[in-house]
Amino acid sequence: MKKKVLSAMLCLTMVASLAGCGGGSSEPASSGDDAAVATEAEEAAPADDSADDAAEETNDSGEAKTYKVGVSIYQFDDNFMTLYRNEIESYFKSIETDTEKYDVTIVDGKNDMATQTEQINTFITQGMDVIILNLVQTSSADALIDQVVAAGIPLVLINREPLAYDADGNTLDEQYAGILDNDKVCYVGADARQSGTFQGQIVLDLPDKGDINGDGKVSYVMIEGDPENIDAQYRTEFSIKALTDAGVEVEQLVDQVGNWDTAKGQEIAASALSQYGDQVEVIFCNNDGMALGASAAIEAAGRKVGEDVYLLGVDALDECQEMVANGTMTGTVLNDHVAQSHTAVDVAVQALHGDAIDNYYWVDYVMIK
Ligand code: BGC
Repeated sequence: MKKKVLSAMLCLTMVASLAGCGGGSSEPASSGDDAAVATEAEEAAPADDSADDAAEETNDSGEAKTYKVGVSIYQFDDNFMTLYRNEIESYFKSIETDTEKYDVTIVDGKNDMATQTEQINTFITQGMDVIILNLVQTSSADALIDQVVAAGIPLVLINREPLAYDADGNTLDEQYAGILDNDKVCYVGADARQSGTFQGQIVLDLPDKGDINGDGKVSYVMIEGDPENIDAQYRTEFSIKALTDAGVEVEQLVDQVGNWDTAKGQEIAASALSQYGDQVEVIFCNNDGMALGASAAIEAAGRKVGEDVYLLGVDALDECQEMVANGTMTGTVLNDHVAQSHTAVDVAVQALHGDAIDNYYWVDYVMIK
C-alpha cells in the first residue's frame, strides 16, 4: 500500500513533465515483475532495436507501423468530454511520426453501461493495441478492467475515477483500494477535492465572504453532477467544507442533481430562485455546463451576479472564462482537459511501447476568478 501512495506522489511530479513535453518517458521498470511485464508487452509492441522487431514495425511496402487505439467516452453529449475527446484525437495526430501512426476509433457510450460494455468487447475482438476508457458507471470498473486485462490490452481510464467499495458498500479512497493493481492499467484524472476547495476559496476571498445580505450565514444552492461520479461527490462536499473550515456559517437551501446538464442546471436554479428569492446568495454548480444554465435562470429572474448573487462552476469552459472576466460569473476552476488528455495519450503510447506505466496520474486544477 505504501508503494501505491509513493507512486501516486511521484506521478504528481511526472505529470508536470509529461504534460509539458508531450511525450517522454516513465519511471524505469525497477522490479523483476515490472521487467517481466515490459517484456510481455514488447512482444505485442516491439522495440526498435532488434532486426525482427524492425520487420514488424513496418510492413513489406515499408509503411509505418499503425497502432489501433480504441476510445470509449461515457457520453458525447457532454461539454467537457467533447473538448477532452477532440484533444485526444488531435494530440494523437500531432505525435505521429514517419514510422508510427495511430488509428484512433472513438465511440459514444451514450451514458449507457450496456452499450459501453459491448463497445469494449468489440474493441477486444478488433484487437485494439490499447484502450482509453471514460466509464459510464464507475461501479462497473472491476468487470471491465478484468475483461481488458484478460485480453492482454493496456487500459487507460480517464475522467471518472474507478471506485472500490468496502463490505458495507461505502466507497474506499481509491488510491488505497488496489482496484488498479495491475501493471497495464492506470487512471488519469484530477483530484476533485481540490476543485471543490477552490470553489469555496473563491467565495471566501469575496469582500463579504458570500454573505450578501449580512445575516451572518451564507445561504446556498448546490447543483450536483451525476451522484455516482466522485467528482460530483467531492465538489459538493469540499466547496462547503472550505467555508465551514474557515468558520463561516452556511445554510443549504437546495441540493439537487443536475447530472452535469445545462438544461437541468437552469431548471434547478430557476425553481430555487423562485422559491427562495433574495435568500439565495451563492449558487454552486459542480460543473460549468450547469452553471451556464444557472446563469440563464439568474438573468431571467432579474438577479445580477456580483451584486445580489454569486455563481460558481468548474471546468473553465471558454465561455465561462469570458463570463468570469466580464463579471457574469463569480468564478470557475480549470479542469485541465489538455493536460489530462495529453497525459492519457502519452501513457497509452508508453504502454504500447512496452514501457512500464504507473497506476495513477494526477493533473492539478487551477482557480479562475
Ligand atoms: C467535468 C464535468 C463532466 C464530467 C464527466 C467532470 O470532471 O467537470 O463537466 O460532465 O467530468 O464525467
